[in-house]
Amino acid sequence: MSSPVAVAGATGLVGRACVSALLGHAGQPRVIALARDPAAAAFAPHPRLQVLATDFDRLGEHPGPLTVDAVVCALGTTIGKAGSQAAFRRVDVDYVLAIARHALAGGARHFVLVSALGADPQSRVFYNRSKGEVEQAVGALGYAAVTILRPSLLLGERGEFRLGEEVAKRFAWLIPGRYAPVQAAAVAAVAAGAALAPAQGLRVIESSAIR
Ligand SMILES: NC(=O)c1ccc[n+]([C@@H]2O[C@H](COP(=O)([O-])OP(=O)(O)OC[C@H]3O[C@@H](n4cnc5c(N)ncnc54)[C@H](OP(=O)(O)O)[C@@H]3O)[C@@H](O)[C@H]2O)c1
Repeated sequence: MSSPVAVAGATGLVGRACVSALLGHAGQPRVIALARDPAAAAFAPHPRLQVLATDFDRLGEHPGPLTVDAVVCALGTTIGKAGSQAAFRRVDVDYVLAIARHALAGGARHFVLVSALGADPQSRVFYNRSKGEVEQAVGALGYAAVTILRPSLLLGERGEFRLGEEVAKRFAWLIPGRYAPVQAAAVAAVAAGAALAPAQGLRVIESSAIR
């Protein structure tokens, strides 16, 4: 049996698919799904799945460390949902770093971050810059291995309507290769596989490689 893996953002499009991919993996890892509201998360019970109520603002107050070998982080919001750039950064930067630090303190060795195509700390685009900054900060924390996935537009069934994503999907056939949308399930499968594979150092997997 593989070492345990935590999934942050486990209730999202990629996160949920990643929990499924991990539970279906031949390595049979124990999976800890971190959710702010476990009751609303509605995961089907599984003998290797633990759903852990997680307050990302108060990780230091959680009883006991998070003892996993690897973390897949698919946390994220949109500026529209969050309401402001600062509120967006709180989730996509601050919460990501908080869980990365918390798991590292508990002995985790591999952090798998679902970032985004175009992530670049020097970018003039706020979203890309935020993603680039969090990538850079995670890379500097001291993990033995960091794997960064940079998907393009995610395809998959959401419980909510996102206008930008719907428009982009319709015109997906016009989008050139490097920027072409990618199935969330494919991103999740790559993230799960990476979390369970032996790894060392920093690795970046671009969207075209995920597809
Ligand atoms: N959407 C795209 O086309 C796209 C493209 C490229 C990269 N990405 C990136 O890929 C990653 C995964 O995307 P996704 O579409 O799978 O995300 P998603 O479906 O929106 O899920 C986001 C996850 O983050 C959690 N979350 C959001 N705000 C939170 C908060 N304030 N406190 C605690 N948890 C919070 C959500 O929990 P709840 O369920 O409790 O809300 C959910 O588990 C994100 O980092 C995203 O930026 C997305």
